[in-house]
Amino acid sequence: MTPLHRQFPPGFVWGVATSSFQIEGAAHEDGKGESIWDRFCRQPGAIADASNGDVACDHFHRLESDLDLIASLGVNAYRFSIAWPRVQPQGHGEFNPKGLDFYERLVDGLKARGIQAWATLNHWDLPQGLQDRGGWNDRDTVHRFVDYARHVNARLGDRLAGITTHNEPWVIATLGHDQGNFAPGIKSRKIATQVSHHLLLSHGLALQALRADGAKSPLGIVLNLASTVPATAMPADIAAADLADSRGRRWYTDPLFKGHYPADVMAELGADAPVVHDGDLAAIAQPMDYLGVNYYTRTVVSASGEDWNAKGRGLPVSDMDWEIYPQGLTDLLCLLKRDYPGLPPVYITENGGAFKDDALQHGRVQDDDRIAYLREHIGAVARAMAQGVPMAGYMVWSLMDNFEWSSGYLKRFGIVHVDYATQARTPKASAAWYRAFLRDWRG
Ligand code: FCB
Repeated sequence: MTPLHRQFPPGFVWGVATSSFQIEGAAHEDGKGESIWDRFCRQPGAIADASNGDVACDHFHRLESDLDLIASLGVNAYRFSIAWPRVQPQGHGEFNPKGLDFYERLVDGLKARGIQAWATLNHWDLPQGLQDRGGWNDRDTVHRFVDYARHVNARLGDRLAGITTHNEPWVIATLGHDQGNFAPGIKSRKIATQVSHHLLLSHGLALQALRADGAKSPLGIVLNLASTVPATAMPADIAAADLADSRGRRWYTDPLFKGHYPADVMAELGADAPVVHDGDLAAIAQPMDYLGVNYYTRTVVSASGEDWNAKGRGLPVSDMDWEIYPQGLTDLLCLLKRDYPGLPPVYITENGGAFKDDALQHGRVQDDDRIAYLREHIGAVARAMAQGVPMAGYMVWSLMDNFEWSSGYLKRFGIVHVDYATQARTPKASAAWYRAFLRDWRG
């Protein structure tokens, strides 16, 4: 059997990932405007530990040492996001040059260390000033996003290895606007579907605009995709799983790669279907240079609506109670290739877990669960690649423990432990494992 590291070609992209709101802190510095997550954290009960992103990992003030930390892992890529309200405090009107100064130092610091910079433009921290005008439900936000994307590209585009428009539009639409447990905390299926359409449209229009501006970096989007399977072989369960797959996956991948929304979800939505203007779908279906996939778990669906959660069934779960199911990643990637023959290069832009063994003991974190998780999921990527899926990279979520949205600081996804009282960073056993794996891969 070929050792795992030998199954990946030279040039494969190996990284770690973070996002602005989850690590930066410095919520009110250098002219940064308020984001919808700054606002949402103030809502009583919204965040499990009643915390917020004011300080987070204080990355904003620890940029140089965090860059050294990234370099010490031996990765060749770092995926981060740009906080729109740092760059344009209200999301409309004036830009704040100081905001991009920070990201320029980050990008140049990565370059100096030989690490590719992968920038995401929207990892959920929409300027509150735009939310006050209707946020992603308002079609004008689409155009504001395109302006912001062009502004970032004009300053940094020549040094980025990749630009991602949005991180996980499903989460923004569904958790943020239908279920309401993420910012901005709205609960309306009608609004959520309109939001998903505007996110996709702004992605397509941004790609068009950046290309017209002569963008040099590969352009794409990042989707959170699960492998969705029926609970049993009963036809009703199979049909329910198919519809769930349509809602969660094809609602995004069909317009992106085929230029239409899936008919089954459209029929189900009825009056809640989004308002789509002529030309929108053609704009959304811009060819992409790559697709980013965030994979954590699979979804098991039954027609009866019975709760098939893995914990209840005694299956292995992470500290988020998400089932650990690496084969689902292979299955998902092969499904994407089957459904979309012209699939561009695929990067796993997030994969990882929060685990119970994440505590610091005698100055160490022996996170064997995470090592097993990463090894098995990297193996799942290798199997997909062997079946012809155009895999190009893999990035661990996350570089370090950070603000895990509505779970606050209670869930730790890092391969580096963060002591929030002192901001001390301690690489976990998984960081050493990843470093050794990458050393072997480099040969
Ligand atoms: C993804 C998010 C990322 C992180 C992981 C655990 O949905 O993109 O920011 O919170 O989940």
